[in-house]
Amino acid sequence: MKTSKELLAIINEYMDNINYDRQPKSLYEPIKYVLSLGGKRIRPILMLLTYNMYKEDVEAVLPCACGIETYHNFTLLHDDLMDNADMRRGKETVHKKWNANMAVLSGDTMLVTAFSRMAECDAKHMPDVIRLFTKTALEIDEGQQYDIEFESRNDVCEEEYIEMIRLKTSVLLACAMQIGAILADASKEDRDNLYMFGEKLGLSFQLQDDYLDVYGDPKVFGKNIGGDIIENKKTFMLINATKLAEGGDKAELERWCSFSAEQVMAGDCDRNEKIKSVTGIYDKLGIGKLAKQRMEYYYQEALRHLDAVSVPESNKAQLREFAANMMKREK
Ligand code: IPE
Ligand code: IPE
Ligand code: MG
Ligand code: MG
Ligand code: MG
Repeated sequence: MKTSKELLAIINEYMDNINYDRQPKSLYEPIKYVLSLGGKRIRPILMLLTYNMYKEDVEAVLPCACGIETYHNFTLLHDDLMDNADMRRGKETVHKKWNANMAVLSGDTMLVTAFSRMAECDAKHMPDVIRLFTKTALEIDEGQQYDIEFESRNDVCEEEYIEMIRLKTSVLLACAMQIGAILADASKEDRDNLYMFGEKLGLSFQLQDDYLDVYGDPKVFGKNIGGDIIENKKTFMLINATKLAEGGDKAELERWCSFSAEQVMAGDCDRNEKIKSVTGIYDKLGIGKLAKQRMEYYYQEALRHLDAVSVPESNKAQLREFAANMMKREK
């Protein structure tokens, strides 16, 4: 069985050798740019690790692995535009380096390319793969729409948040793993348990992303810190702070959240002051610890589904190690 590090190298080599020599060059430049910035490649690694629990010839899965990574990068181009994010993977985002039109159109091109790569899998599995991938892509759009709608709502509860992150983030990790299982001819029961493993791991993963958006080191995380606070994103952090804050803290939190991202951009409210004040309230209420506890809860739930997968324990070792390292990530 291959280690996640070996799989990462295989994935990167495959992706680096893809030819984007079509015209107009300007459409493909942002695609090459974003794919060259070295993301963690979590989704394709999860797909290959899953397949590799059953079969050795991981090369057979590379078109789908590349498809899911291309799809993920498409979501990032559009997401950064929607979230007004200027930095990704330590570099300028596409809409910032080029413009909004380029982010939309290059993103669309990646979306189409992703489906075409997925359809390169063997004919026997293609209907199942495409059905799952299509369902997942629709769910992600739904999750992203909730994410945006929640920005202007102040009554979002934790349950709604969890469902929103399940849709925008978890289902793609789950889909990656289930495609790995489908291509490996795993049993229906294993496919379902691996999907659930990815889904629970994905909840933990997005909780951590929200945590790092407040407490991460921008040089390591590669994104600007405090973006979620500026956009009034209804993260686990903000929902719990709103619930727990009392008196002056509650009033202050409400006041900061009454400024929209547009007002911050227009200079009606100081960006750094807002981030500092809201973070101060999180610190006081111990919200970071709450988020870490919840991450651990979903991680343990994920592991229960991995326990139920019917391959020898030694075949699960690489996947277990990769998931454990994901929990410790700082980027
Ligand atoms: C970022 O995903 C978007 C989220 C779902 C949080 P990753 O953290 O996997 O980003 P890259 O691909 O490694 O840059
Ligand atoms: C990511 O959510 C979800 C998708 C990209 C579909 P975020 O908006 O939190 O991701 P980052 O933090 O920008 O990577
Ligand atoms: Mg974002
Ligand atoms: Mg977003
Ligand atoms: Mg985020």
